Amino acid sequence: MALSIPDTAFIIAYYRANNELVSCDPYAKLWVRPSLQKWVNEFATKVSEYDELLHCMRNRYFHLTLEELLGSGSKLLCINLGAGFSMYPYNLSEDLVTIEADFDDVVAFKKEAIARFTADGSLPSRKVRWINTDITRQEDQARLKTLLNDYKGYRKVIMIEGVFFFLNQGQINSVIEFCREILNTGDILLAESFEEQIKETAVFIRLKTYFEKELHSDGTTTTLPRSFYEELPGFNLKRSNSTLELARELELVPEDMQESEVLNEYCYFLVRE
Ligand SMILES: C[S@@+](CC[C@H](N)C(=O)[O-])C[C@H]1O[C@@H](n2cnc3c(N)ncnc32)[C@H](O)[C@@H]1O
Repeated sequence: MALSIPDTAFIIAYYRANNELVSCDPYAKLWVRPSLQKWVNEFATKVSEYDELLHCMRNRYFHLTLEELLGSGSKLLCINLGAGFSMYPYNLSEDLVTIEADFDDVVAFKKEAIARFTADGSLPSRKVRWINTDITRQEDQARLKTLLNDYKGYRKVIMIEGVFFFLNQGQINSVIEFCREILNTGDILLAESFEEQIKETAVFIRLKTYFEKELHSDGTTTTLPRSFYEELPGFNLKRSNSTLELARELELVPEDMQESEVLNEYCYFLVRE
């Protein structure tokens, strides 16, 4: 059986559940499907044994960044584009208001499951709204924009995590253009992608080959140079952190681990000018 892109969202939830302390996601276990363990094991053997931990660093980065923004005192609206099975609202203060966008099947499944988990007390109740959207389509972007009329007076933070890899450059530009349009001065864009230097590494080539075989992916795998973010019109790049750097800080990887040996992803914190 082949994997689908939404399955990748389940698999990384599995990673977080296996490492809930460092991933900062004690609720990821709600998505665990034992049938996925075989993919987790296979990916570790065929692509990279460190991917599980580095993915957890990604979640940790976004969790801690949202926590920091919540601490700034303003009313915060988080718009998570391609949210998958991420669980930020439930692990953070109830003050956070969230809109999650993803494909129809992911949204329908998640919405129904969250309603069940909240009703049986497995999850705290949070202010989350879901919208089934192809975030690259202008018609869908316009529907999402309409929702924002209900959140006047909120500082917005858009998160795009684990998504650009699967989009082509034109689609990424369309998503960024949409972000530029809906964000006001001082709002935040948190984005994540691989940098260019990974393209020639053996581990990235293994990843591409694996996805072409198992995801029936057409080979579209986009990497973005740091200069893409540095030069984004209308945005100011404040900082970037890599998942390897975060894993090193927590001493989760061997000291001599080289960037070229792992699927190192970069997280960017941009402020709308
Ligand atoms: C690898 S998962 C990442 C999920 C989550 N952001 C995380 O990092 O845990 C990619 C997610 O992006 C969603 N996605 C990919 N392309 C999309 C698009 N064009 N529109 C909406 N969602 C998309 C997929 O359905 C999936 O849930």
